[in-house]
Amino acid sequence: MKKLLLQLNKQLMVITAMVIVVVIGVAGTTAPPQNHLYKNLKILPQDISREAMHDIMEGQFADAMGIKCDYCHVKEPGADHPDFASDANPKKDIARAMMTMVLQLNKENFKVQKPLIGDSLMVVTCYTCHHGGTFPDTKSKIPVVHEFGPPPPPAPPKQ
Ligand code: HEC
Ligand code: HEC
Repeated sequence: MKKLLLQLNKQLMVITAMVIVVVIGVAGTTAPPQNHLYKNLKILPQDISREAMHDIMEGQFADAMGIKCDYCHVKEPGADHPDFASDANPKKDIARAMMTMVLQLNKENFKVQKPLIGDSLMVVTCYTCHHGGTFPDTKSKIPVVHEFGPPPPPAPPKQ
């Protein structure tokens, strides 16, 4: 009787151990590998928080240029919100090129060690040039120095 009980106990332990292994295995494979909120970031950090994203998009981009979200994010007619992850609106890639330029300017021209869009240490921001508009005013007070005129007529063909 004692022997039988001991054997049952052993079997129970084996079964319990197997169940634990299976449970851990399932938990391991079903847990998402990362906990990222956003799907299509090429410049901003993958693990950016909702608050930081909001401050950059609304507080910096939209405000610096005097625009709404759907200036850069495609919005289907009748949809409540733009499709933020989509790259269908070409302005989004222009904005990415501007972000890259701003990061580079801060790093190479203003010696910001680790430039990050949205960081208060940034010297040059979207606002530096845009000042609330989509097309910065680059020409108003600059006197014209070079006036190249129309291109010369094409040379006559050689015989
Ligand atoms: C000047 C253009 C511009 C404006 C205006 C703009 N965004 Fe964006 N947004 C971008 C760019 C560029 C990215 C992608 C950044 C990257 O690739 O790292 C982005 C990414 C996002 C994402 C992440 C989507 C994903 O899953 O990858 C969200 C959310 C978002 N924007 C929300 C907003 C909201 C809300 C507004 C308005 C308050 C807004 N944006 C205004 C340019 C803009
Ligand atoms: C060094 C100056 C400068 C900075 C800094 C700058 N921009 Fe620009 N941006 C320009 C100029 C100039 C144009 C107009 C280009 C043209 O006329 O073709 C422009 C155009 C754009 C456009 C296209 C507008 C349109 O309707 O076609 C977007 C979008 C944009 N900028 C986003 C940004 C964002 C976002 C930032 C910050 C990450 C930024 N820019 C920072 C100078 C700048």
